[in-house]
Amino acid sequence: TTVEWEAESYDMGGHDTYMHKEIAEQAEAVDRVLRGRIDDRFATVHLGGLNLEPGEARRVRRIKILGCGTSYHAGQIGAQLIEELARIPSDAEPASEFRYRNPVVDPDTLYVAVSQSGETYDVLAAVQELKRKGARVLGVVNVVGSAIAREADGGTYVHAGPEVCVVSTKCFTNTVVAFALLALHLGRIRDLSVSDGKRIIEGLRRLPGQIDEILKTEPEIKKLAREYADAKSMLFIGRVRGYPVAREASLKLKEVSYIHAEAYPASELKHGPLALIEPAMPTVAIVPDDDLLEKNRAALEEIKARSGRILAVAHQVQEKADHTIVVPKNEDELDPILMGIPLQLFAYHTALALGRDIDKPRNLAKSVTVE
Ligand code: AGP
Repeated sequence: TTVEWEAESYDMGGHDTYMHKEIAEQAEAVDRVLRGRIDDRFATVHLGGLNLEPGEARRVRRIKILGCGTSYHAGQIGAQLIEELARIPSDAEPASEFRYRNPVVDPDTLYVAVSQSGETYDVLAAVQELKRKGARVLGVVNVVGSAIAREADGGTYVHAGPEVCVVSTKCFTNTVVAFALLALHLGRIRDLSVSDGKRIIEGLRRLPGQIDEILKTEPEIKKLAREYADAKSMLFIGRVRGYPVAREASLKLKEVSYIHAEAYPASELKHGPLALIEPAMPTVAIVPDDDLLEKNRAALEEIKARSGRILAVAHQVQEKADHTIVVPKNEDELDPILMGIPLQLFAYHTALALGRDIDKPRNLAKSVTVE
């Protein structure tokens, strides 16, 4: 299926910036990527253009996901989803690194190229190199008919609709949902049970309503953004599912507000970054209510003991944090889809407070079509 992009999708629709408009559109965008794909009878999803027979899907031994920037971060969450739901060893790597290191191209590995524009040169070049060596490459792409979509052997469209702001928001969310669909599809062909398939489907269906709930907290997030906008640098931490969320949130803040931000796995704090902690260096912590909750809380304690300011994104108020943005809980595997959304608003309002050029940050282009 294809979705026509009407001229009115480019209208600002009463928003001051495309970034704000695109953040606000996420519930309907997620609804669109789910539409027509769920198969309740077999507790799975159908992805029309995948071009991968069930027998072939069962023989895949590894998945390697390639993308740049935000798409790479979406791919990191995608790799975790595929490992969790389909139990296929998976990882993501920046396409730009992959293509310059003479990678081993393994016939049992399925390669997945991720791109909003479908035109990013480093991703396209990686795809072309893989195809030259006989690899199977799928695309997870937003722009229909783009170069990467055409080069790939098959894949799935992200259906986020046009994204105009240089800083990607709704496409990130939709790409992660597209990966959840791919992971569910592969999982149900392999060993994911019917009850787990149903559980994930129910979780996916809850996403649009939960996104709207998060968007309603914008006034509080705006206040917080103003409080933290004086920081020269910020640390973002998360563990396993939360780590790529921290990386993406840190990229968002850097791109649009020009505040230096660095993401670390919370488990690595004691191996170096703890030395940075002081009141002038706030930490944003991703603290989902999953099996790592206690570990994450311990990290907050370590930061507090060193007088660090903490902003937590969590499913319940965190005592050790100075502020908590509480987000609705979904299934553990799907939580990363929701936890980044308040931090998109946080980056937006920080940039607004600092008077930045939100839709066109300095030195950046929407798609990097050159080397
Ligand atoms: C996103 O906020 C960035 N502007 C950038 O990292 C972007 O995600 C990257 O250049 C990849 O673009 P693509 O998804 O169009 O391939």
